[in-house]
Amino acid sequence: MKRFMPNIYVNCIEDIDIKMLKAQGIRVFILDIDNTLVPTSTKEPTKSVIDWIEKVKNEGIKVCLVSNNSKKRVMGFNKKLNLFVIYRAFKPLKRKFQLVAKKYGVSAKEVCVVGDQIFTDIWGANRAKMMSVLVLPVSTIEGVGIKLKRYIENIVINKIKIQSFALIGNPVKHSLSPILHNTVYDYYRINAEYILNCVEDTEIGLIIERFKQTGVKGFNITVPHKQNIMPFIDEISQDAKQIGAVNTVKIINCKLFGYNTDGDGFLRQLKGDEINVKNSKIKIVGAGGSTMSIVYALVNAGCKEVLLYNRTVENAQKIASKFSNVTALSIDEFVASNCDILINTTSVGLSPNNDKSPVANLEGISPKTVVYDLIYSPPITRFMQMAMQKGCRAHNGYKMLIYQGLIADEIWFGRKLIINKLVNKIIKELEKGV
Ligand code: ATR
Repeated sequence: MKRFMPNIYVNCIEDIDIKMLKAQGIRVFILDIDNTLVPTSTKEPTKSVIDWIEKVKNEGIKVCLVSNNSKKRVMGFNKKLNLFVIYRAFKPLKRKFQLVAKKYGVSAKEVCVVGDQIFTDIWGANRAKMMSVLVLPVSTIEGVGIKLKRYIENIVINKIKIQSFALIGNPVKHSLSPILHNTVYDYYRINAEYILNCVEDTEIGLIIERFKQTGVKGFNITVPHKQNIMPFIDEISQDAKQIGAVNTVKIINCKLFGYNTDGDGFLRQLKGDEINVKNSKIKIVGAGGSTMSIVYALVNAGCKEVLLYNRTVENAQKIASKFSNVTALSIDEFVASNCDILINTTSVGLSPNNDKSPVANLEGISPKTVVYDLIYSPPITRFMQMAMQKGCRAHNGYKMLIYQGLIADEIWFGRKLIINKLVNKIIKELEKGV
């Protein structure tokens, strides 16, 4: 099936990101004519086709026409364009494509084939080891022969179509998300891939445009863009609005829908650990990026109260002011007694500072208190060790990471995916990756 797979799908030639292809080293475009540029019945290029070809040329990319059609058809079409042409090309044979590369003195990798048919243009490009862009046919009015071909083509396209998902953030290099999501896709045999994109603040709009053009179905957002992304989103869920941050976006027909799965991810972890949030007393150390989503989820799940301890009290106050049963306190006032759930959301203790803890001691903690650390590297933090020494159950942030990702996948695919067997498999894969 791979032989029929294009590198890029777009609706029409105008949707091709010429600059991106140029940046990827493309020097020559091979264009199919019929139903790629114009309907088969159109003898001459339209103004928009002429303009688009000019635009490509202005980028310093050479353009030529390679068609399976007759000399008369191809020459007639080329009168106004004056391009290098090959007619009766016998695509998907690769010979004529290779001839183009030779003519321009470039390697196969520097050539991009643009066409509307996978059994001729795309297959041929793959045989010649060239890049390929599949466009939707310009006209839906086609002969019976072509219609049948399209029918088979659609079956193939649906089978081979890789659905792309991504993470944007900065930095993203060490992210475990690709392992997590690719394990899900493997497990359910979903033909999808998850890739990383390191993005500067100023590039957010650009990357979103690129996602739309290349048919990316959804993406996650991590530090530092969870807030910056919000103005670019068409519809934001109630939860994400309240939390003030978006970590998951689904793209439907170029429209962006934003969600926040962090808090729900944490609740799923608590549920898995059989912790009852209702009427519970909770203490949280830290008031950074993820704290708001966790507090929001815990309050909505009916906890009795949350005491929020932070080094900078104002940061805790910003969160506490949104809820009636959340109180902000200085970390210096922290005492571990009298709570059902204790959570560390600070970055203190994160590898390589394995011996650090956000609080000096856990004196007075009840062994019944369940302790969470959002850090998962190292897998057992100093904070967790201190809790375990007091006889408490202690969990790291692995499962929250997994669940927030799985909930994102459920949003993207519109179906239930979370089962224990999969979660365990992901843990195994992640442990290999850390
Ligand atoms: P974010 O969560 O936005 O990525 P962070 O740098 O990871 O930010 O910090 C998260 C939390 O860790 C914050 O509550 C931060 O406290 P401040 O609000 O006072 O900055 C806390 N934190 C980071 N370093 C700390 C330290 N050395 N001691 C105590 N708390 C610390």
